[in-house]
Amino acid sequence: MSLSNSFHQPVLVTEVTALLQPEVGKRYIDATIGGGGHSQELLSRGAGVLGIDQDPAAIDYVKERDDLNHERLILVCDNFSQIDEVAKRYDFKDLDGVLFDLGVSSFQLETAERGFSLYREGPLDMRMSSTLTVTAKDLVNGLGKKELTYLFRKYSQEPKATQIAQEIVDKRRKEPITTTQQLASLVERVYRIRRGRLHPATKVFQALRMAVNDEMNSLRETLPKAWSLLKRGGRMVVISFHEGEARVVKQTFQDWIGEEKGKLVTPKPLSPSEEEKRFNIRARSAQLRCIEKII
Ligand SMILES: C[S@@+](CC[C@H](N)C(=O)[O-])C[C@H]1O[C@@H](n2cnc3c(N)ncnc32)[C@H](O)[C@@H]1O
Repeated sequence: MSLSNSFHQPVLVTEVTALLQPEVGKRYIDATIGGGGHSQELLSRGAGVLGIDQDPAAIDYVKERDDLNHERLILVCDNFSQIDEVAKRYDFKDLDGVLFDLGVSSFQLETAERGFSLYREGPLDMRMSSTLTVTAKDLVNGLGKKELTYLFRKYSQEPKATQIAQEIVDKRRKEPITTTQQLASLVERVYRIRRGRLHPATKVFQALRMAVNDEMNSLRETLPKAWSLLKRGGRMVVISFHEGEARVVKQTFQDWIGEEKGKLVTPKPLSPSEEEKRFNIRARSAQLRCIEKII
C-alpha cells in the first residue's frame, strides 16, 4: 500500500488530472490538500502547487511525504475561505486551476479521537481545525429541540429530524451525550430497523460536521474568491459529496455561465466508475464539476 493510500485514497484522480492538464510551468491551488493524492499527480507532471488544508494533521502528513516534489509545493494550514489572502502572500495568481475535493478525508474519519466516525468510539468532536471552538458535543447538548430539528433538516434532509431531536433532548436530561457511539446508538433506536447499506445516523453525523465546520458558508464564500485567481482558460474543479454542496457549486457555476464568464467543461457531473466505487467506498457519492474561465 502506498503512503497516499494509508492516509486517503484520492477520488476521481484520473479525471481531475485529465481536466486540469498539469505540465511544467503551470500553477494550481489544491484548496483541500488532505493526504496530497491529487497534488501528487499535479506535481509529478511538473506543475507548481499551493496546497491548503485547515487540518494541521493533513499538512504535517504531506510535509512528511517524500514522494512529493517539495520544491514546487507550498503548504499552508488555513481555511480555504482565506484563499485570496494566502494566494496573495505567495504571489499565486493567473492560475491554471483550482481544485476543491470537499468534505473529510479517510484519515479524519478513521482517527477515532477526532469524533467523525459512526463506527469508532470517540469524543463527539468533529472539528477539522484546531482553531474552532465549538464541537459536535456542544451542539448536541446545547441546542434546543427546535434548533436540532432545523439543523438535521437543513444540512442533511434527515427525515426523522424531529424524533431524533426529541430523543436527544430526553436522553441528555439523564446524562450528557459525549461520544460518537452514544449518538449513533440513539439514532439507531429511533430508526429501529436498519434499511440499506447506510448507517441510520449517517445524515445526523453529516449535519453536525457541516455545522461545526461551517462548511456551507465557507464554500459559498470561497468559490468566487478562487474564481478571481484563475487566468483566462484556467479551470476550477470541485468534487462534492452531498446534495447541499452540489447545489452551491451548480448554482455558482450557472451564475458565471449566465454572466458569460465561464463555460462548463462537464455538462453532466462526473461520477466515479463502478470499479472505483467498489474499491473506494468514499467515492460512492462523489460528483465532479469543472468550469473554465473564458474572460
Ligand atoms: C476529501 S479530503 C481531500 C483529499 C485530497 N484531495 C487527497 O487527495 O488526499 C478533504 C480535505 O479538505 C480539508 N478541508 C475541508 N474543508 C476545508 C476548508 N474549509 N478549508 C481548508 N481545508 C478544508 C479537510 O481537512 C480534508 O483534509
